[in-house]
Amino acid sequence: MIKQAIIPLAGLGTRMLPLTKAFPKEFWPLGNKSILENILDECFDAGINEVILVISKKKKSIKDYFKKDIVLEKKVKNKPELLKSLKNLNKISSKIKFVYQDKPKGLGHAVLCAKKLIKSKHFLLLLPDDIINGKNSSKELIAINKKTNSSVIAIRKVIKKDVKRYGIVGFDEFKNLKINKMVEKPSVKNSPSQFAIIGRYILNKSIFNYLGKQKSGKLGEIQITDAMNAMLFHENFYGCKFKGKYLDCGTINGYINSFKEINKK
Ligand code: UTP
Repeated sequence: MIKQAIIPLAGLGTRMLPLTKAFPKEFWPLGNKSILENILDECFDAGINEVILVISKKKKSIKDYFKKDIVLEKKVKNKPELLKSLKNLNKISSKIKFVYQDKPKGLGHAVLCAKKLIKSKHFLLLLPDDIINGKNSSKELIAINKKTNSSVIAIRKVIKKDVKRYGIVGFDEFKNLKINKMVEKPSVKNSPSQFAIIGRYILNKSIFNYLGKQKSGKLGEIQITDAMNAMLFHENFYGCKFKGKYLDCGTINGYINSFKEINKK
């Protein structure tokens, strides 16, 4: 069973500057809770009992948020709803571990920072920029992992002209979504399909060996897609065409649309 998850939060959020300069985008509200709490709820609802949050020194406020605050709890002791929400954070906090990434050296490097804490064969990886609304996609990935005992990646069909914005997968067998190729931001001509990688993965912990050996790319970053590609020769990967609605929270416009969508109900 998949019981551990990694959520990398140590990026700079450059696409949302200057707003992200002082205030992490993961704290922005979506519905009646933050983006991060939406993602955490998805994890716990899927049966995860330990979440590793990768943060940076600049994002220490994320760690502080989950700390018990006795002064605040006393202050709202006669306001049951508020007290409950504070106590709920304490409950969540007992299931969270923090690791620091010293420099923003890429998503792959952030995942590598959590290596020591991962115990079982497979773990879940969630990117909070990608919200999947309406159906718990982590549960869907876990079900495929249970059936195949393999790594699984959430995928979504995008229009042709958008393939250059995503990591794109190619298939060995389209029928069962067995993946044989991953290409980061291909041109339309070189794209192996129109199925883009979305930020939910179940990975075999052997990914750490590939990430450890990998050289940094052009921007000095270690990319997870390169490591997964190398791993494809030794580990089966399956795509998961999740059923929920994909919401992009990684850009200002995407966030505004996501906020509207969540508040539609
Ligand atoms: P992105 O590559 O989308 O970067 O990271 P970002 O910092 O969130 O945003 P932009 O592109 O600069 O606007 C994908 C995920 O990986 C984390 C990010 O926090 C995000 O959750 N990440 C990225 C790290 O933890 N460390 C890194 O060095 C890079």
